Amino acid sequence: MCGIVGYIGHKKAYPILIKGLQRLEYRGYDSAGVALISEDGDLNVYKAKGKVSDLEACCEDKDISGCAGIAHTRWATHGEPNSTNAHPHYSASGRLALIHNGIIENYMTLKEKLVALGIPFKSVTDTEVLVQLIEHIMLSNELTLLEAVQVALHQVIGAYAIAILDRKHPDTIVCARQSSPLVVGLGADGDFYLASDASPIAEYTDKVAYLNDGDIAVLQPGKELKVVNIDNETQHPKVKQIDITLGQLEKGGYPFFMLKEIFEQPACLRDCMRGRINVGADRITLSAVIDYREKLINARRIIIVACGTSWHAGLIGKQLIESLCRIPVEVEYASEFRYRDPVIYPDDVVIAISQSGETADTLAAIELARRAGAFVFGICNAIGASIPRQTQTGVYIHVGPEIGVASTKAFTGQVTVLSMLALCLAHERGTIRAEHYKEMVRELTLIPAKLEKALESNEQIERLAPIFTYAKNCLYLGRGYNYPVALEGALKLKEISYIHAEGYPAAEMKHGPIALIDSEMPVFVIATRDHLYDKVISNIQEVRARGGRVTAIVTEGDTQIQKFADHIIVLPDTLECFQPIIASIPLQLLAYHIAVCKGKDVDRPRNLAKSVTVE
Ligand code: AGP
Ligand code: GLU
Repeated sequence: MCGIVGYIGHKKAYPILIKGLQRLEYRGYDSAGVALISEDGDLNVYKAKGKVSDLEACCEDKDISGCAGIAHTRWATHGEPNSTNAHPHYSASGRLALIHNGIIENYMTLKEKLVALGIPFKSVTDTEVLVQLIEHIMLSNELTLLEAVQVALHQVIGAYAIAILDRKHPDTIVCARQSSPLVVGLGADGDFYLASDASPIAEYTDKVAYLNDGDIAVLQPGKELKVVNIDNETQHPKVKQIDITLGQLEKGGYPFFMLKEIFEQPACLRDCMRGRINVGADRITLSAVIDYREKLINARRIIIVACGTSWHAGLIGKQLIESLCRIPVEVEYASEFRYRDPVIYPDDVVIAISQSGETADTLAAIELARRAGAFVFGICNAIGASIPRQTQTGVYIHVGPEIGVASTKAFTGQVTVLSMLALCLAHERGTIRAEHYKEMVRELTLIPAKLEKALESNEQIERLAPIFTYAKNCLYLGRGYNYPVALEGALKLKEISYIHAEGYPAAEMKHGPIALIDSEMPVFVIATRDHLYDKVISNIQEVRARGGRVTAIVTEGDTQIQKFADHIIVLPDTLECFQPIIASIPLQLLAYHIAVCKGKDVDRPRNLAKSVTVE
C-alpha cells in the first residue's frame, strides 16, 4: 500500500517529492508527509491528513529548502489516518526521520521494550517503533545509521520498505526492503531517486535498480549505489532500463485516470498482442510457452491464484483453458489458498495473476506453491515487480501503468493474455483443430476494433447513469463466460460508487437472491448471443415477473430482449469466449458514470489502495 518517494542530489528535493507523491497517490491517500534536510541543516518534517494537495497547502509558509528528502502517502493499517500518525516519523531526539510501507508484526513487543527504556512515542503506528528502535541502537552502541539499521532489522518481523534521513549526515539516505516494493533510480548527475514503483522516477532517469527482499541500500550523491544485506554482505541488484512515457502517467485531458484507462483499452490490447500474434494473424507465439513447453503442456492441473479483479480474470481463464486445452483448472483466492493446506502436485502449474505484481497474498501463494514443487507462471502488468521476479516464467500484459484504483484495462489485458495462453497451449497439445485455432486467433486480433465500437455506448451510458444513483443495491447477472463479467461489473460499482452490488450466475438467482428483487432493484443482465442466450432470456423474464428493472447488455442485431428490458446496451458480436472482454466495457462505463453522478472521487475511492502489499 502507500507510496514512498525519496531524492538526494543537487536539485531541490521538495518539487520532486511532491510530484512523486502525486504519481503514487493512487497507492494510498489517508495522509501525506515529507522530510527535508534544509539548507541550514535542519531536519524538517511536514505532514497533513488527506491528500497530497493538503500537504502542499500545509507547506506553503514553511522552509522547503534542501536537496535531500523523503516523502510518503499513507494507507493506514495501524492507527487512524490523522496528521500525528502520518509519516515521516521523527526519532525521539529529532535526529532521524523515517517513512515506511508495510506492517511491523511484532511492533507491540518492540514498543513495550522501548517504552520501558523511557523512549517516548507520539503516534500509535507500528512504524514509529522502527525509527525509535534504530535511533536507540545507533546512540547506545555508537553505530553508523547503516549499522543500526542492520541490527534493528534483525529484530523486526514483518513487511517493510523504509527510507531514513539522518540530520547529522545530510548526504545520505538509507533504505531497505522486505516484502514491500522499493526501486532506486540512478540519476545522470550522480543523484539518486527512490520510490515504491518506477512511476515517480521515470521522468528523471531510465536507469533503475529494483531492490530485492533483504536489501539495504545507501544512497550518497556522486558515489556508487551501495547495497548490502542485514549481515553486511554486498548485494548486486541488476540495473535495468525502464520504458515509461510521461503520457502514460498523466490524465491526457480526461477528468479521471479511470476514464482514460477505459478508453485506452483498444490501444492497450493491441500492445498486449503485438509481437505475439503474427502479421497473418494465424499464429500466437508466447516465449514462455516456447521456453517451458513440456512443463506447461504436461500440466496435470492448473491452479490460478489471484485477488479481486485479477481473480475474476482467472475465472474466465479457467473456462478458456478447460474448454480449449482440456486441462482441469482451479481458481483460488490467494488469501485463502495461502492459509489452507492445499494439495499441490509437482506437476501442477500455478498461474498467479496480478496487475501490480505486488499483492502480498498472491506473493505468499506463489511461495507456498514453489515450496510444494509446483511450476509457477505469472501474468502481471507492472514490469519488474515482485511477482514477475518470483515466478519461473510468465507473460506481461503490457497495458501500461494502471493508475485508477478500479482496475479496467488490466482486466481486459489479463483476459487477453489468458486467451492467448489457452490458444497456444491448445495448439501445442493438439486439443484444437487447426482451422478452429486460426479462426480464433483471427477473431482475437479483431477485438481492439470491436472495443472501439463498444466504447461508442459511452454517451448513452452517461445519460442512463443518473437513473441508478438512487439505488441502494444492484444485481448483476450473467452465465457461462459472462458470469465473471457480472462479478467484475458488481465489484466496479461497489468500489467507486459505494452502492452495494452482487454478481450472480443468472440461474442461481432463483435459489435465493430473487427474494430481493422489487422495483427498487436495478438488475444488469449480460445477455449476449451465446449458447446460453435462451436460458438468460428466461432468467430476465423471472426478474421482470417480480417487478425488477432490467438493463440488458445485448449483441447487435438482437431483436428479442428489447421487448422486455427497460434499457438495452448493444455490443459488437464476437466468439463466445472473447465476449467478456467486450462486455466489460459498458459495465466499467456504468460504474464510472454512476460514481461521477454521485460526486465520488473515482480514482481514489475511500478505504482502498491500488496495490495491496499488506495481507
Ligand atoms: C480492482 O478494481 C481492485 N482494486 C482490486 O480488486 C484488485 O484487482 C486486487 O487488489 C488485486 O490486485 P492485483 O491485480 O494488483 O494483484
Ligand atoms: N503500517 C504503517 C501505518 O499504518 C504503514 C502503512 C502504509 O504502508 O501506508 O502507518
